Amino acid sequence: MKKYLMAPGPSQIPEQVLLEMAKPIIHHRTKEFEAVLEKVKKQLQFVFQTKNDVLLHASVGSGAMESSVVNFFSKGDKVIVVRSGKFGERWSEQAKIYGLEVINLDVEWGNSVDINDVKKLLEKEKNVKGIFTQICETSTGVHHDVKALGELIKKHPQTLMLVDGITAIGVSNIKTDDWGLDVVISGSQKAFMLPPGLSMMSVSTKALKFAEQSTLPKYYFNVLKELEMLAKNQTHFTPAISLIQGLSVSLDMIFEEGLENVFDRHEKLAQATREGVKALGLKLFAQNPSNSITAVYAPQGIDGEKIVEHMFKKYGFTIIGGQDHVKGKIFRLGHMGYCSIFDVVSMLKALEFTLKDLGYKKEN
Ligand SMILES: Cc1ncc(COP(=O)(O)O)c(C=O)c1O
Repeated sequence: MKKYLMAPGPSQIPEQVLLEMAKPIIHHRTKEFEAVLEKVKKQLQFVFQTKNDVLLHASVGSGAMESSVVNFFSKGDKVIVVRSGKFGERWSEQAKIYGLEVINLDVEWGNSVDINDVKKLLEKEKNVKGIFTQICETSTGVHHDVKALGELIKKHPQTLMLVDGITAIGVSNIKTDDWGLDVVISGSQKAFMLPPGLSMMSVSTKALKFAEQSTLPKYYFNVLKELEMLAKNQTHFTPAISLIQGLSVSLDMIFEEGLENVFDRHEKLAQATREGVKALGLKLFAQNPSNSITAVYAPQGIDGEKIVEHMFKKYGFTIIGGQDHVKGKIFRLGHMGYCSIFDVVSMLKALEFTLKDLGYKKEN
């Protein structure tokens, strides 16, 4: 049976990217590798919409999350973490493990953070050194207004704005520099159309000053050392060479399509998915849904996990269920990266068949 990967990540990988990564490995301390990194570096700045360098870690996204904790802060620093789902929880746990004083701003799953709550918390809590938030909280499919957050934090010279754009960069129009986003991270296995294992991080000049003061322990994840090496088109340790070569090809594909067209395509795919599930009589979970994934309530009486299982077994579509307290209650459809309207239309048809097989009847 033909398989379709329509998960919230990893996402589908184009053939040209796979073929590039299948080439014999090259050595990284060579002019050949440096030329690839130099090109990728420039293209990433364009995609991240920043003049600052975008460094690469050979790690999954959670590594970049950890790196953003250890590189900009010191033990006891006070930070606010927007906890609106699994990934907000992860950042909060990482910050706590490294000894930061964490103020959790809890947002009900499915909702976006209210900028006024952040404002109030900043007024109440003195000396906040950083605010962490996802752009798209992948566990709920919510999109947070990081533009408003960035504009707010611009007025706070002692506070950094750190955002997790793992399911947002290359999907939505995120203006890193214009919006004052100091640290933006992303990962390879989503809109960058690659396997997992490579993460990216843009670092503002404001964040660089924080990095110079930071005393938390760090060894592999050392942003200042990485930036120093990146200036020479090199990495501190052995990079994920094949993934970087693959990235060079996937970035070319993004450039060929045009960044605005990439955003536009994602918006259309997301709209089509939302309208499709609503036409089936289903309800969206996210109040302000992202363009990368769509979280949907399972219909009354049907376990969301059963929908996920049946879609795969009978129709070959990998979609993903809910986590923690929404397990069985929601399921999540991915439509980011190497994804076209025909992927979405087929996925919606497979969902319709699945619901029918499971005895669902649309209420009028
Ligand atoms: C928003 C977000 N943050 C962080 C992560 C963690 O990335 P990884 O699974 O690559 O560690 C993910 C992965 O799904 C994610 O979607």
